[in-house]
Amino acid sequence: MSTRLLFSGTPYSTLPHKYIRPESERPKLSEVATCDDVPVIDLGCGDRNLIVRQIGDACRHYGFFQVINHGVSKKVIEDMLKVAHEFFNLSVEEKMKLYSDDPSKTMRLSTSFNVKKETVHNWRDYLRLHCYPLEKYAPEWPSNPPTLRDAVKIYVTEVRQVGFKIEEAISESLGLDPQCFKNVLGEQGQHMAVNFYPPCPEPELTYGLPAHTDPNALTILLQDLQVAGLQVLKDGKWLAVKPRPDAFVINIGDQLQALSNGKYKSVWHRAIVNTDKPRMSVASFLCPGEDALISAPKPLLGDGMPAVYRDFTYPEYYSKFWSRNLDQEHCLELFKN
Ligand code: OGA
Ligand code: NI
Repeated sequence: MSTRLLFSGTPYSTLPHKYIRPESERPKLSEVATCDDVPVIDLGCGDRNLIVRQIGDACRHYGFFQVINHGVSKKVIEDMLKVAHEFFNLSVEEKMKLYSDDPSKTMRLSTSFNVKKETVHNWRDYLRLHCYPLEKYAPEWPSNPPTLRDAVKIYVTEVRQVGFKIEEAISESLGLDPQCFKNVLGEQGQHMAVNFYPPCPEPELTYGLPAHTDPNALTILLQDLQVAGLQVLKDGKWLAVKPRPDAFVINIGDQLQALSNGKYKSVWHRAIVNTDKPRMSVASFLCPGEDALISAPKPLLGDGMPAVYRDFTYPEYYSKFWSRNLDQEHCLELFKN
């Protein structure tokens, strides 16, 4: 039987046993430090060389960073979060009409991560939408709440442009033409996960999302404006990323790790939960076009730097990704030369 949605509005008083991690896999929250120096890059500063340099440094040393003055207005972000809250506050009966645990569906509401493959579940419900091309996918998005489609359309269109700007700077920071990665990635797909983490009676025993890397090219994350929960692995330690209402958190996905020939890392990250407040996040994923061949550009090879990964396409990668459990070894390891 499939797992039902977690969030009905009625709080849980104990953690159901299928969410309890074995002792060795627990988040050990008391050992997590808050990261006060997550790089913040001002995309509106007007100094392109500085932006490229800062993004290069952040990619080399962190694998993630925040961007401010990114060009998406406060109103667009607030409207996105508002419809997301309204959506998850719908009745369970209404939401169950959209429930599916089939990852190949282009629109679905689901829970945990990969219900059919995993042995322990995660304390998360999520709405997953394909977003590009809009004309193709927007008609299948939820029609309730009635404002959802318009709010999401504007949001995803603007976020796409932010993602492109960042991909250009990433490309340039590796000494490549700014358009190089975008050209290799082709007509990029775009997906969105609207994550909802209900209050959890025993946050020490479970995850919202366990440690994972994102399989796509670039992730643009809108964290809950108030409630923290994102943690990133840096130099072997888990660090909490404080929410900053004017920023997106950006992380390199597996595809950019492959395209950079391993120079930039797709960083391990996880979401933890808390006892008293629900948390929301909106993750936007840019993905290689279906026909794009993921192959590190020539200038990054040679001189004793052979290609670290074999060439592959995203459909091949993606099916491998979803055939696994989320917190296994880095999926890219399976594509090493
Ligand atoms: C994701 C993710 C983190 C968060 O959706 O891939 O890592 O804070 N989300 O919700
Ligand atoms: Ni992620």
